[in-house]
Amino acid sequence: MLIDSTGRPVTDLRISVTKRCNFSCIYCHDEGLGPVASPRSPHAEEMSPLEVERLVEVAREFEIRSIKFTGGEPLVRADLEEIVARTVRHVADVSLTTNGSMLAKRAEGLRNAGLKRVNVSIDALDPAAFHEIRGGSLTPVLRGIEEALRVGLTPVKLNMVVFRKTVDHIPELIRFVARNDRLRLQLIQFMPELVGPKTDWAVDIDAVKAWLERRADRVLVREMHHRRIYRFGRAEVEVVDPVYNAEFCRNCHRIRVTHQGELKGCLNRNDDLVPTRGLSDSALRAAFRKVVAERVPYYGGYVTNYPARSAATSPLIQLARTDPPEE
Ligand code: 5AD
Ligand code: SF4
Repeated sequence: MLIDSTGRPVTDLRISVTKRCNFSCIYCHDEGLGPVASPRSPHAEEMSPLEVERLVEVAREFEIRSIKFTGGEPLVRADLEEIVARTVRHVADVSLTTNGSMLAKRAEGLRNAGLKRVNVSIDALDPAAFHEIRGGSLTPVLRGIEEALRVGLTPVKLNMVVFRKTVDHIPELIRFVARNDRLRLQLIQFMPELVGPKTDWAVDIDAVKAWLERRADRVLVREMHHRRIYRFGRAEVEVVDPVYNAEFCRNCHRIRVTHQGELKGCLNRNDDLVPTRGLSDSALRAAFRKVVAERVPYYGGYVTNYPARSAATSPLIQLARTDPPEE
């Protein structure tokens, strides 16, 4: 097992399989690596299915239990089914984060390859608002969600980045997930550090949590990142709030791999990349140990150009005006 210097075991690996994407979300941080590329741009730098499989084999030796594929948009790759099939030979818990726009046609094939679940980014159910935020259409995404439910890629977690342009859509999304108990909602705090100084976009996530807490039937805490989970009848809403959140970092059991095969110990750092391509088995194991050894207890110390988490820098939002979700 890989345990870092602060005692956090690493149990979870997020692998980016491409930097390319067919959407252009205005908030996109591309896993902390700068702007996403267009789907047609050259992709010689991306890892092959065999390269991914090799990383997963070593991760398995270190008792990593779950793997999530990300991008860019992973479904830009025609060989994602092969990547999944090779991965599940070694680690059974394999999931995918996707923008959903190309999911409908491939959900069944991915399930057959061994994929367990998907996270689909959604942000809004209003087509115009969706298009403004994502630079793509809502309809294929809704079809992708339906198909994922039909073939059993469940629970389907809907990701919503919480910022100025989405905050009013939260009650609507809670009502949407309440219709099917295999749908969940993840409210993801907008991370401004990685997309430039758009400080006026941030909303006070603690006010959102207080709003949820007042209305929820139950509040639970998940081990990973100590994320709060709020239950509203059949609806389940999880809050992911990493910005200046030392408790989140203290409970982080995740490392990453970039599309070029570099290990990355923290979403918010780019100074800790460890290349792995072409390494021998023993050098690859050493690379995993190195990136874990360099994990910091709290990334906040690495961010110098963004003000701390507070209601003063992220003014209170007016969620209380909106109707509570129906049951
Ligand atoms: N802040 C928070 N989450 C982000 N994502 C992308 N950019 C940001 C950002 N700036 C998340 C979205 C998307 C996933 C791929 O990454 O939730 O669903
Ligand atoms: Fe970025 Fe994902 Fe949006 Fe593509 S779909 S632009 S990778 S957040």
